[in-house]
Amino acid sequence: MADENLLLEKDGPLATITFNNPKALNALTVATFQGLDRLLTELEKDAKIRVVILTGAGEKAFVAGGDISHLGTLDADSAREFALLAQRVIDRLEAFPKPVIAAINGYALGGGCELAMGCDIRIASDSARFGQPEVKLGIIPGFAGTQRLSRLVGKGRAKELIFTGEMIDAEEACRIGLVNRVVAKESLMEEARSLAIKMCDKSSSAIRFAKEAIDNGLEMDFARGSRYEADLFALCFTTEDCKEGISAFMEKRPAKF
Ligand code: CAA
Repeated sequence: MADENLLLEKDGPLATITFNNPKALNALTVATFQGLDRLLTELEKDAKIRVVILTGAGEKAFVAGGDISHLGTLDADSAREFALLAQRVIDRLEAFPKPVIAAINGYALGGGCELAMGCDIRIASDSARFGQPEVKLGIIPGFAGTQRLSRLVGKGRAKELIFTGEMIDAEEACRIGLVNRVVAKESLMEEARSLAIKMCDKSSSAIRFAKEAIDNGLEMDFARGSRYEADLFALCFTTEDCKEGISAFMEKRPAKF
């Protein structure tokens, strides 16, 4: 069940979640995170869904951050609670057993940038803008932005973005590795869907293991990460997908996963 600020659309193997509060540039509230958590539970169980796309409603924003009017009501305890809720849901997105693509159609600021960084792949429209402007509000990123941004773009660039609060455009975000690619605004959703479709006829268990190997392995040293990869590689050989994939190759036919 979605709340009014989140729309869910299913189209065959693809699910699209749209942050839908364009009047406030899709700013994130406690309810948005609770709703997103519920949608992830639904999509995790739905075996027909193979890839999830996140995007924002309206012309201007993917998500312009945490809802500043809500932030204005917080004290230290409730601020920690909000941060921990958001971090838990974004962690869940990052560990989601199916690929998640962010189709970034406009501003991805503060919590919006942090949300996008929890996705596996980020595609930006040429009108997208990125930033962590929290210092302008006298706060710091609280949805794990200090951690994910420095891992994605390096410590120096993360510090520059976070200490200045300045926005960068999509091309610059691509240059520093914050997004995978930039596409024309009009073709953003088509590009996101066509990328998603390329994953849909592949082995979903293999993609899930690959995601685990990359995300969890990166938190280990190289030797432990490589051993972890070998364990997951071994686990692939217990799956039907592995039998099917290898048989299909030997029989010179397309694999059916
Ligand atoms: N929270 C609540 N409302 C927001 C918002 C936010 N993060 N961002 C925009 N809005 C609202 C504006 O208040 C405005 O509402 P009204 O029409 O009722 O006045 C509406 O959305 C449209 O915004 P603007 O009129 O400001 O649009 P603009 O095109 O002139 O500017 C913008 C766009 C540069 C993105 C500007 O809105 C802005 O700077 N927004 C705030 C961005 C920000 O600071 N984000 C970080 C929030 S902190 C955070 O995310 C916390 C965290 O990590 C834990």
